[in-house]
Amino acid sequence: MTVQDTLSRPLRDLRISVTDRCNFRCTYCMPKDVFGPGFVFLRRADLLTFEEIARAARLFVREGVEKIRLTGGEPLIRRDLERLVEALASIDGLRDLTLTTNGSLLTPAKARSLRDAGLQRITISLDSLDDAVFRSMNDVDFPVGRVLEAIEAAGAAGLHPVKIDMVVKRGVNESGIVDMARRFRGTGHIVRFIEYMDVGTTNGWQLRDVVPARAIIDALAAQWPLLPADPNYFGEVAGRWLYADGNGEIGVISSVSQPFCRSCTRARLSAQGELFTCLFAARGFDLRAVMRGGASDDEIAAAIARVWTARTDRYSEIRSEETRRMQKVEMYHIGG
Ligand code: GTP
Ligand code: 5AD
Ligand code: SF4
Ligand code: SF4
Repeated sequence: MTVQDTLSRPLRDLRISVTDRCNFRCTYCMPKDVFGPGFVFLRRADLLTFEEIARAARLFVREGVEKIRLTGGEPLIRRDLERLVEALASIDGLRDLTLTTNGSLLTPAKARSLRDAGLQRITISLDSLDDAVFRSMNDVDFPVGRVLEAIEAAGAAGLHPVKIDMVVKRGVNESGIVDMARRFRGTGHIVRFIEYMDVGTTNGWQLRDVVPARAIIDALAAQWPLLPADPNYFGEVAGRWLYADGNGEIGVISSVSQPFCRSCTRARLSAQGELFTCLFAARGFDLRAVMRGGASDDEIAAAIARVWTARTDRYSEIRSEETRRMQKVEMYHIGG
């Protein structure tokens, strides 16, 4: 059974944040002046347990979800994540199980154990190949070489295809677009260039910091002819482009210049069990309260269906000076 929202969009994807903590302080996500040593993160008792997450996930699948992505903060900070992966992998009807990570904790052994637990593929964030630029963007002086090793480890463990996400910020890492594509051309990994978005309220976003997808494609096509490709599935976020010479594909995520709310099938579950129906929502529905209040599976599933059926979100399509100033959830809280 698949529920539909007020714009006839089915519920298909669930992004689950397993922790709000991260060991990076990316300037566009958790700027240090806000997320300093005194910042208070969720307490353990506030986090959904793996059992609670798996139960909720099973009921989301009952309501139509086919794909689950684990996120954070940084999801690999959560101890024994393999246990959760294993529980999710065994859900009947789930077709795709993946995870988005900054790669800092993804050793070869970790990549193998996640794969063995049932993780199918992985997305690793990498904003620059230039060590100095990378260190300043993660703002904790983390060296780029270790993330490159993580990408290797993911490939070696069979987490295919490995996707590599680069958030492009004008004047910061924009000059590294072509290098990033060149590095992974022909490797089977898929680089995706993401327009810098006005998520949350702390990153000081300005429209002039966005490099539009069109400009990214033009810069790449000047090096290697590109052919547009159809989406792999309804609602795929990235626009796909193939190298005409057969050396693989790249993606662009154009949520600012060409919003894709019309086909947005994503729900998000925060680490403390709030259900969000948009990346830019101000508030979530407290599913944890329903679950901890002793609700039955049917009651929880009905609550999920109710929230989805009432959904009207299309933030990126109506983005304006005014919407930008509205109250919004922070990215580290729902994992992008
Ligand atoms: P695939 O499953 O591989 O197609 O990836 P995905 O695009 O679902 O997941 P990923 O986490 O790699 O998403 C890449 C980035 O796209 C996210 O980190 C966000 O920056 C952006 N993004 C994903 N979903 C949405 C969305 O619903 N709205 C907006 N505005 N941006 C999104
Ligand atoms: N704009 C675009 N992408 C962002 N991400 C985090 N903050 C932003 C933003 N403001 C990306 C991360 C990671 C993914 C989970 O979300 O770099 O690739
Ligand atoms: Fe950076 Fe991701 Fe951590 Fe945010 S959650 S600070 S984007 S690594
Ligand atoms: Fe979906 Fe909201 Fe992003 Fe639009 S802005 S694509 S509704 S998450």
